[in-house]
Amino acid sequence: MTIRLGDEAPDFSAETTEGPINFHEWIGDNWVVLFSHPKNFTPVCTTELGYMAGIKDKFEQRGVKILGLSVDPLDSHEAWANDIEETQGNALNFPLIADHDRKVADLYDMIHPNANDTLTVRSVFVIGPDKKVKLMLTYPASTGRNFDEILRVIDSLQLTANHKVATPVNWQDGEDVIIVPAVSDEDAKAAFPEGWKTVKPYLRIVPQPK
Ligand code: BEZ
Repeated sequence: MTIRLGDEAPDFSAETTEGPINFHEWIGDNWVVLFSHPKNFTPVCTTELGYMAGIKDKFEQRGVKILGLSVDPLDSHEAWANDIEETQGNALNFPLIADHDRKVADLYDMIHPNANDTLTVRSVFVIGPDKKVKLMLTYPASTGRNFDEILRVIDSLQLTANHKVATPVNWQDGEDVIIVPAVSDEDAKAAFPEGWKTVKPYLRIVPQPK
């Protein structure tokens, strides 16, 4: 199935290390990061899951739930979780889908047969409280992802959703942002009473809203 930005995230039911879930019910009013792992007991995945467990509180502060996926059965996930805690110093503290029949991996097009016909690539989906897909990333199996970048994108997405601002190249939290083009100068006066800097009529800079 081809998923594009703005599509509704496909719903599914799945077994996870924290019990069965129905995805849309589990999302509730939260944002979600759904990310896939090629296989259990592999080195890069082990480091990724340990790191994510260590920064879970940063996702929670932003109202984001974390959901991992690996195409292995539940008992294997449980054994792997012990290794993750032992080697990375962080116990798995979010659910990991046991997608042994690859139902979810197929639904989200996480298996790219020309890369590998059984393992998933490293996919990341950020899904909003409206259940719409906001971000998709695809990394090769051999490259660990940068989850700090995912936090940065979520900050940007939430600024856009809440304040109608966009973020410029290499933006970091606290730096100036850009009023989105869809906001007229008239509407911007109400939204940004302290004013903004017009570099060009289409490039209006404001301090990052709180
Ligand atoms: C890993 O997670 O380390 C990995 C998985 C598949 C291919 C290469 C690396």
